[in-house]
Amino acid sequence: MSVSTLSRFANKVVIVTGGASGIGQAVVRRFAAEGAIVTATDVNETGLIEGAEQVKRLATAGGRSSFVVGSVADEDSVKKIVQDVVDREGRLDALINVAGIIRSKSIIDTSLDQFMEPISTNLIGTFLFSREALPHLLKTKGNIVNTASTAAHYGHPFMAAYAASKGGVESMTKALAWEFLRQGVRVNAVAPGGIETPLSTNNQGNLADVDLTLFQRLIRPDYLWGKPDQVASIYALLASDDGGFMTGEIVKVDGGVHN
Ligand SMILES: NC(=O)c1ccc[n+]([C@@H]2O[C@H](COP(=O)([O-])OP(=O)(O)OC[C@H]3O[C@@H](n4cnc5c(N)ncnc54)[C@H](O)[C@@H]3O)[C@@H](O)[C@H]2O)c1
Repeated sequence: MSVSTLSRFANKVVIVTGGASGIGQAVVRRFAAEGAIVTATDVNETGLIEGAEQVKRLATAGGRSSFVVGSVADEDSVKKIVQDVVDREGRLDALINVAGIIRSKSIIDTSLDQFMEPISTNLIGTFLFSREALPHLLKTKGNIVNTASTAAHYGHPFMAAYAASKGGVESMTKALAWEFLRQGVRVNAVAPGGIETPLSTNNQGNLADVDLTLFQRLIRPDYLWGKPDQVASIYALLASDDGGFMTGEIVKVDGGVHN
């Protein structure tokens, strides 16, 4: 459970995608703990309910959370989620794009539909939410924090689609940072690596018969995974005024394994 004595998001309205599990669930807890009015969204309703219960048990600085089920890749759903939040809360201060999926398979065996799965969720989902949120973020001089991956900058075998989707997220982060620099909207990304969540631990098996030596070098030889709360704190830094002079940054959070 995240514990914070800070209240950097008092009365701030925040949307978190992928809020039902792992890093996204930790981000919801962290922002609510610091006083934010959070709307979590995800395709996994059970995880969203669990996350809302966690927030209720937290000592928050006036923060609260609600949730809505929807896919980040569904354009109509994304439009409705953003508009409903603004209609209900009257403003939007931050968008935290966390929703993501991973697929590991040789490119030779990958169909076009399979290649598009991570692209649709990780890249197009980030595009759709950013596009819908930005008109509202311009009014509040708010900001976006995206989720990239160390897979975007270091060769991760059997993850061509995933790596390409995250490379796209990084490039889009930098492009948007410049596009909105003068209007006071910041756009940054966190690039996690080796965080203990269903996404990473379930994927381990897919790679076990591949090149374990390389895999162990890429992740950690002792399998000492990072915890979601250790990444959530970095999203909070970037989205808060403490990160006010940062934009277009990709902040790697991997325990040093990719240095
Ligand atoms: N765990 C790691 O080591 C690691 C490393 C690098 C990047 N990341 C990235 O961090 C983000 C969070 O991953 P995690 O590790 O917490 O995994 P996770 O599986 O625990 O959480 C991902 C969440 O995204 C949701 N999601 C998937 N498709 C969706 C869709 N179409 N619409 C809405 N929600 C959807 C899932 O239901 C899940 O709740 C992802 O973008 C992932 O690529 C994770």
